[in-house]
Amino acid sequence: MCAGHRKGRSGIGGPLISFEGIDGSGKSTQIAMLKKRLEALGHAVVVVREPGGTPLSEKIRDLLLNPGSSSMDARTETLLFSAARAQLVQEVIIPARERGDIILCDRFADSTLAYQGYGRELPLEEIITTQELATSRLSPNLTVLLDLAVEETEGRLQSTQPDRMERAGKAFMQRVRDGYLKLAQADPDRWLVIDATQEIEPIAREIETYVVQRIVIRS
Ligand code: ADP
Ligand code: TYD
Repeated sequence: MCAGHRKGRSGIGGPLISFEGIDGSGKSTQIAMLKKRLEALGHAVVVVREPGGTPLSEKIRDLLLNPGSSSMDARTETLLFSAARAQLVQEVIIPARERGDIILCDRFADSTLAYQGYGRELPLEEIITTQELATSRLSPNLTVLLDLAVEETEGRLQSTQPDRMERAGKAFMQRVRDGYLKLAQADPDRWLVIDATQEIEPIAREIETYVVQRIVIRS
């Protein structure tokens, strides 16, 4: 474990790095590769995925993604994603930060802004306020956006049983992608936008270089 992340030294705890992008953009693939690389460098790494990551959050995940929940209102959806996140932050993310671990999140609060704000077209300001409560105002040190056209994910998403969110349609996913790009443009210091049409390896190298030079060494 690298002492550089310990709370006493950085004052803020271990770095939190979130990965965002539309379904099938390559987040899980890149997170697994970055985890391996950071561990090889001697860092303690915690990976979490949203919604989920705690027993309670996994139950909420089932409610959210089950196609049987087709009557779910967009406000209910927003609050359930946020509730799953609140539990994950308290139970896993805050303790990991206090230990000085590097936390890699497969989605975080920006997913709710992109999917429920831009995708479902709920008021962004109200979602931001909800996220302040859900995250205890914890913001990622870095957010990696794997940007990809909606059509490009079609060959990648092989699931024969699309979940409830994957059934939301192409126009919805287009608004989500555009929303992510707007969020990234508004806060370029926090976001690293990657062209996710590239092969897996060059994307991994781009992310690793950025994380090692700008996030891990600095923290
Ligand atoms: P996400 O976690 O964003 O939903 P995944 O990492 O699960 O995406 O990737 C979805 C599918 O696309 C997987 O089958 C994966 O192997 C493949 N994939 C991931 N990255 C790439 C890439 N850069 N080019 C082509 N296929 C990819
Ligand atoms: P998941 O199978 O984890 O998809 P992916 O591999 O693409 O991350 O399903 C999570 C789904 O929930 C995905 O469609 C994105 C959506 N989602 C929201 O709509 N809002 C949120 O706040 C979060 C965390 C996810």
